[in-house]
Amino acid sequence: MRHSTLRQLEVFEAIARLKSFTRAAEELFLTQPTVSMQVKKLTEEIGLPLFEQVGKRIYLTDAGEELYQTCLGIFDHFSRFEMIASNMKGLKSGKLRLAVVTTAKYFVPRLLGMFCQKYPGIDVALKVTNREHILERLTGNQDDLYILGQVPDAVDAVAEIFLDNQLVVLAAADHPLATKKKITIERICDEPFIMREPGSGTRIATELFFSKHNKKLKVRMELGSNEAIKQTVAGRLGVAVLSRHTLALDAQVGQLAILDVEGFPIERHWYFAYSSGKQLSIVAQTFLSYLRQANSLLDNLICRHVTSGHCPLLKNETNIRSGGVRQRN
Ligand code: PGA
Repeated sequence: MRHSTLRQLEVFEAIARLKSFTRAAEELFLTQPTVSMQVKKLTEEIGLPLFEQVGKRIYLTDAGEELYQTCLGIFDHFSRFEMIASNMKGLKSGKLRLAVVTTAKYFVPRLLGMFCQKYPGIDVALKVTNREHILERLTGNQDDLYILGQVPDAVDAVAEIFLDNQLVVLAAADHPLATKKKITIERICDEPFIMREPGSGTRIATELFFSKHNKKLKVRMELGSNEAIKQTVAGRLGVAVLSRHTLALDAQVGQLAILDVEGFPIERHWYFAYSSGKQLSIVAQTFLSYLRQANSLLDNLICRHVTSGHCPLLKNETNIRSGGVRQRN
């Protein structure tokens, strides 16, 4: 039996399934004498007849039936192995086209660093732009995956929450409000406000929050970058609402204070998303599985780099949300 080649088993399986030597020969692109020869050799090795012929029809003997079931198991194992092997090949030379909103740049490169270490053959192209442009790219299916705040219902995409995103009110560390508790929303509206640019998700969420409370901000300046906003806030030009993630591992953390304002933090989430009709590549699927562990990965990474005193604040940034899957059609 050990001498039976895989080819002989393949020929046997085809005959058993098709109940015909002629059709098996056609399917395998072999001549009929070759098929008969392979079955003859296999039968000799096993030492039992595998088929019996009644009139023009062929039937499996008991030994033939057993061998047929064994063949199905062997071929099933082989095809699973083939899938695993091709996944491995895909991972070795794949490309991941990722597009993320501006604020996600505070944690995505760290996640990518660990991902690329794990899969060194994967080539990552990372595009960072604001929410408006990300939504345009998502609609045009220009990249493999997107990371952004909530995806509007009008966009035909699959989206899943993988991380919390809290928006907080920032002021200079020595701002008079920095030591106050339960600051009212009205009080914040008295302060000059530094706002993100139009099209920013942070801006949309901030405007929505204040308009829901029927309050109007005194916008002193609009800036297209979280970094520039933090510098401006640290320079006492105003207060701002930004994602807590923008404070991660930041040298400026000591120059900024998170204010205790009623209704804050605004609870948002980070989603990964892709166009509904998209067939995700193996590389993209691998990155998605990896993103689902983002919470613990970021905790480990951040705690290795900051003093223990800062850890609880930073760890709060990365509370994972589970089960938040939704699909839009
Ligand atoms: P933004 O997006 O970087 O464009 O402000 C952040 C978000 O959508 O929460």
